[in-house]
Amino acid sequence: MPTVPVRLGPRSYQILISSGLLDDLGPQARRRLGERARRAVVVSNTTVESSLGDRPYESLTRAHFKVDRFLIGDGERFKTLRTAESLIGFLIERRIERPDVIVALGGGVVGDLAGFVAATYLRGIRLIQVPTTLLAQIDSSVGGKTAVNHPLGKNLIGAFHQPSLVVIDPDVLRTLPSRQIRAGLYEAIKYGVIRDRRLFIRVAGSIDELKKLDPGELEHVIARCCAIKARIVQSDEREDGLRRILNFGHTVGHALETVTHYRRFLHGEAVGYGMRAASRIAERMGLLASPDRKQIDAAISSVGSLPRANTLASDDIISAMHRDKKVEAGRASFVLPVEIGKVVIESDVPPQVVRAALKDALE
Ligand SMILES: NC(=O)c1ccc[n+]([C@@H]2O[C@H](COP(=O)([O-])OP(=O)(O)OC[C@H]3O[C@@H](n4cnc5c(N)ncnc54)[C@H](O)[C@@H]3O)[C@@H](O)[C@H]2O)c1
Ligand SMILES: [Zn+2]
Repeated sequence: MPTVPVRLGPRSYQILISSGLLDDLGPQARRRLGERARRAVVVSNTTVESSLGDRPYESLTRAHFKVDRFLIGDGERFKTLRTAESLIGFLIERRIERPDVIVALGGGVVGDLAGFVAATYLRGIRLIQVPTTLLAQIDSSVGGKTAVNHPLGKNLIGAFHQPSLVVIDPDVLRTLPSRQIRAGLYEAIKYGVIRDRRLFIRVAGSIDELKKLDPGELEHVIARCCAIKARIVQSDEREDGLRRILNFGHTVGHALETVTHYRRFLHGEAVGYGMRAASRIAERMGLLASPDRKQIDAAISSVGSLPRANTLASDDIISAMHRDKKVEAGRASFVLPVEIGKVVIESDVPPQVVRAALKDALE
């Protein structure tokens, strides 16, 4: 089975990737956690639960876990301290102890919230991530960032807490709406541009197979994306430096999400526009050759059409960029490709370059 190790000393873990793996969740969890773990609290939502049925619960029970379920509402608006608090109340009532485990079964919303609770309940208990969206399988379940939202901003409350195991079953994506699949594919393109030209070419050349969820292709791409993320996290676990390259496309992407109040774009779609903008900035600054910029554009277009963005005011987007939590000393920084597979971080982009690139990118 494709396995990606994440080497972080005592916090090391493995990412297991294989079709049908969901039925093996219990034994895999048992192998990793040992006999001391008696109870497993599965955090999920009703959408995921009705798609996947009882398989994960049955598998955990067969491996002698006493299983409880905690379902949260479906949507970003439930990723809050209030939901976290009610989950913590549930854990206290069920007398969940340090050797026990929280299993996050869902997309990034479930993963971030369950991860945040695992990081804070009893100052930290073990966590297994079972991501069920493409975005969660290639991005949010790996690397240990957890968070909940505050009314004044997204992901402002959080902690680093690495999972003990990540169990990825690409088969579970069969019930995921196709728009969510496409949104995940933009992040796969991102990994290619920042770190791996071969992956970029492979993803760009197999978008149709990936959209159809071809098992072999999907497994390969998920494993490669996870391996890239693992390598980056290994060298910069807490985002002091290199890890920031994962934000390619995200400076503008986050701003687009903010100005549309998270309603118009899925995150990956906003990143699609963000990558268009960043590669245009790079091209205008003479860092990226035109053919490369066009190749990046072509890959993004081949995923499908993005929701319209040319009705949005550049001024609003630019001011949202400057309010982002990643801004330091009032400067928005950009991850800019210098070739496909290599990026630099630049916090000195002339405002007129940003403006022109943005206008062109949002057409
Ligand atoms: N921690 C990190 O490093 C990190 C990285 C990127 C994003 N995130 C976070 O991830 C979140 C977005 O995650 P997401 O895109 O997975 O969204 P999501 O969790 O909201 O899932 C998208 C939708 O798909 C549904 N769904 C999930 N699995 C399904 C399945 N197998 N079949 C049918 N429906 C299914 C969900 O119920 C939801 O309606 C954001 O909150 C973002 O901040 C975190
Ligand atoms: Zn992202």
